[in-house]
Amino acid sequence: MSLDPPLLLVCLQKRAVSAPALLEAGHFAVNVLQTGQQPASIRFSTRAEDRFGPNDWSPGECGAPVLRESLGVFECERHAVHEGGDHFILVGRVVKASFDPNMDPLLYFRGRYRRLHFD
Ligand SMILES: Cc1cc2nc3c(=O)[nH]c(=O)nc-3n(C[C@H](O)[C@H](O)[C@H](O)COP(=O)(O)O)c2cc1C
Repeated sequence: MSLDPPLLLVCLQKRAVSAPALLEAGHFAVNVLQTGQQPASIRFSTRAEDRFGPNDWSPGECGAPVLRESLGVFECERHAVHEGGDHFILVGRVVKASFDPNMDPLLYFRGRYRRLHFD
C-alpha cells in the first residue's frame, strides 16, 4: 500500500480464531505461495487446530513464522490496525522482503487452484 515507507495490508476477519494473536503480535510475515504449496494453502484457509507442522516453517529475522519454500516473504512490524467492516485492516511496515524469481505463484480463482499461462 505504500513504497515510502514500505507498507502492506492484510484484512483479517474479525471472528477468525487467529485474529487476536495476529493483532497483538509485534511482527508478522506474509508468505506468497507457489504452485507446490497447495497443501499449505488448504491448511491455512480452513479451520485447523494447528497449522504449523514441525518441518515446514522457521522463525524469520523478527521471529515471525516463515514458511519454507514460499515464492516470496514479507516480514513486517505491526504499524497500525484500522476498522474495516467485518474485517480488521492490519498494516505492516515491511522490514525484510525476499522472493524466488524461478517459482510460479499459486493462484486461486473461481473456487479452484490455477496456473499462470504464458503464450
Ligand atoms: C480464497 C480465500 C481467501 C480468503 N481470504 C481471507 C482474508 O483475506 N482474510 C481472512 O481473514 N480470511 C480469509 N479467508 C478465510 C480464512 O482462510 C478462514 O476463515 C480462516 O482460515 C479461518 O481462520 P481461523 O481458524 O483463525 O478462524 C479466505 C479464504 C479463502 C478460501
